[in-house]
Amino acid sequence: MKIAMTALAAALTATLAGAALAAGPDKDTRTLQRGKYLVKIGACNDCHTAHYMEKDGKVPEAEWLTGSAMGFQGPWGTTYPVNLRLRMQTLSEEQWLKMARTAMRPPMPWFNLAAATDADLRAIYHYVRSLGPKGEPAPAYVAPGQPVNTPYIVFVPQNLPKQTAAATK
Ligand code: HEC
Repeated sequence: MKIAMTALAAALTATLAGAALAAGPDKDTRTLQRGKYLVKIGACNDCHTAHYMEKDGKVPEAEWLTGSAMGFQGPWGTTYPVNLRLRMQTLSEEQWLKMARTAMRPPMPWFNLAAATDADLRAIYHYVRSLGPKGEPAPAYVAPGQPVNTPYIVFVPQNLPKQTAAATK
């Protein structure tokens, strides 16, 4: 009887733990840790955190994903890595899942983000929101040929191999 009661108590505890998890993913440390890990290996900071690349990633977590005013210019115009700390606060979880699977302008590697599972995208969402809003919105997108008022990096391939006559036919 004692063993049966212990088993029952264990089962009940497990059920309650499961219910708590489903009800409050915001506060689930494992979800947040997973989100942080995905942000880190997903290279989100490389663009969405100012100076992250130059500093070999040595930027305090408090500054992460606050966007960048360094534009990326190419045939698509000039784009700026959005301040995700502000942007995520405006989105519901479902809106985030939809956005993460929608095409974005270069050099945002949206097709990689789009390949993440729902669970991973939700983890990223809760982690970024847990960091709280910070900073200013990144500058707005500038169409090709329009004046740009910020520093920017130009994406132009150099020193391409000469095309052979056969290849151009
Ligand atoms: C190579 C640079 C680069 C990397 C790496 C990168 N981004 Fe971006 N991201 C951008 C740029 C630039 C934009 C703006 C694109 C535009 O204007 O359409 C953007 C836009 C976005 C947007 C759209 C926001 C909006 O309001 O439309 C989201 C969401 C986003 N990035 C999330 C991420 C996440 C999450 C990661 C990591 C998995 C990531 N990005 C990695 C450069 C990058």
